[in-house]
Amino acid sequence: MRDLILNGVGREDSRVIFPFDVHSLEEVEKFAQLLALKTACFKIGKQLSTAVGAPQAVKFVHNLGGEVFLDLKFNDIPETVAKAGIEAAHLGVRMFNVHALGGSVMMSETMERLDKEFSSSSRPKVIAVTVLTSYTYETLAEVGLVPPLMITDWDDEEVKCSQKIEIERLAVKLAVLAQKSGLDGVVASPQETALIREACGKDFLIITPGVRPAFAAANDQKRIMTPADAVRVGADYLVIGRPISAASEEIGGPVGAIDLINEEISQAMSERS
Ligand code: C5P
Repeated sequence: MRDLILNGVGREDSRVIFPFDVHSLEEVEKFAQLLALKTACFKIGKQLSTAVGAPQAVKFVHNLGGEVFLDLKFNDIPETVAKAGIEAAHLGVRMFNVHALGGSVMMSETMERLDKEFSSSSRPKVIAVTVLTSYTYETLAEVGLVPPLMITDWDDEEVKCSQKIEIERLAVKLAVLAQKSGLDGVVASPQETALIREACGKDFLIITPGVRPAFAAANDQKRIMTPADAVRVGADYLVIGRPISAASEEIGGPVGAIDLINEEISQAMSERS
C-alpha cells in the first residue's frame, strides 16, 4: 500500500482535502491508505499537531507520499506569525493558513518574510481564514464582529436575511483584506464563495469547509452546502471530514463516501467549464 501511495499525491483532479481530525499516526495511516489516491491533499490541524507534534505529523504524511495543508490558523503578533510561517514553509507543506482577523500588517509581514526566503514557486500557498463555518450571526455578535440588529418589528425572514448580509459583508471584507495583503486565497463558507469570487477574481484560491453531501449529517457546521453546489458557486477545494471518516457501511464506508463525493464534484465541474 505504501508503494501505491508513494506513486503520487492523490488524484490530480480531486478537489477534496481530507482533514486528519484524529489523535494518532496509526489513524492517519489508516485513512491515508484508504484515501491517498482519491484526495487532493491532507489537512493536519490542531488536534493531531497537539497530540503528536506538527513536524512529526507532516513528515509522516510526506513519507506516505501525501501533501499537507497545515491548518493551524495562526493569529498572533506579526513577528510571531511571520516566524511560524517560515517554520511551516521549512516543513515543506503545500499550504498553511492564518486568520484574516489578525489584520493586514500580520498577513503582509508574513508574506514579505516568506518571499525573502523562498521563491514564489517553492513557498507554500498562504490562505486566510475568513469567517469560520461553525459561526452563526449570534457567535459573531457576541464578540462584536457584526452590529446588533436594532429593528424590532421585522419578521423572522427579514431578520435572517439581514443577518446573512452582515456575515457576507464580513467574509468579503476579510477576503479582500487578505488578497491586498498578498495572500494566495481564503478559507470560507460555500455560502459566501460566490461573493468572494466576484470580489477577488478567478485566480484567488477559495477553500470551503462546511460541505455536506446529501447522505451526511450537518454536525456542528452551520453555513453548509453540498459538494456540487460548493463547486458551482466557485470553490477550488473542499475540506470534507466527517462525511467521509464517519460514513456508514450502507454507502460503503469512507471509500464509498469519497467515491460518491468525487463523482458529484466531477459532474459539477464539467457543468462549470
Ligand atoms: O467536514 P467536517 O465538518 O468534519 O470538517 C471539519 C474540518 O474542517 C476540521 O478540521 C475543521 O478545523 C475544518 N474547518 C472548518 N471550518 C473552517 C475552517 C476549517 O470546519 N472555517
